[in-house]
Amino acid sequence: MTRLESAIRRLSAQRDLLDWAARDVESRKGIVVELGLGNGRTYDHLRNRLPGHRIMVFERSVAAHPDCIPSSDCLLLGDIGETLPAFVADGHAGTAILIHADIGTGDTATSDALAAAISPAAEALLAPGGLLVADRAYRLPDCEDISGETGVPQGRYFVYRRR
Ligand SMILES: C[S@@+](CC[C@H](N)C(=O)[O-])C[C@H]1O[C@@H](n2cnc3c(N)ncnc32)[C@H](O)[C@@H]1O
Repeated sequence: MTRLESAIRRLSAQRDLLDWAARDVESRKGIVVELGLGNGRTYDHLRNRLPGHRIMVFERSVAAHPDCIPSSDCLLLGDIGETLPAFVADGHAGTAILIHADIGTGDTATSDALAAAISPAAEALLAPGGLLVADRAYRLPDCEDISGETGVPQGRYFVYRRR
């Protein structure tokens, strides 16, 4: 497989999975959370697929396409390791119907450590039945790993549902 084909496959899987998750949660009430804005591609996709929902975005430093920058009241700037637990403690536990976590920066060990560190806050933020869709594994004892139900190739993306 060429690198181009590999990139196409990865992005197609990401799009298909976000579409799957959006269909799953669209009729529910609650917030959507984007962890890692990046250039805003998946944020743009989520706001298109879930137009009636408030999307809260967590990012250290905004470098997104100008069309894909959330309004200031929906953007939490800073280290997710600090801003996410603070957001949960600020009355938002159990409010998220969907969390999309795409925090990879190229340093796998650092990104895995961040995922492990924020797992408790992410789990607490999820509403019962809510989904965490992530680019890597999280440690969520109160969630079921349903990655196998999505049709996306195993190991490419991870999907958890809060019990
Ligand atoms: C792979 S990019 C996200 C790409 C995005 N999903 C898209 O489609 O454009 C990962 C993002 O996570 C952010 N990030 C990584 N670690 C972070 C941390 N500890 N706190 C805040 N943001 C972080 C990076 O700054 C980067 O913008």
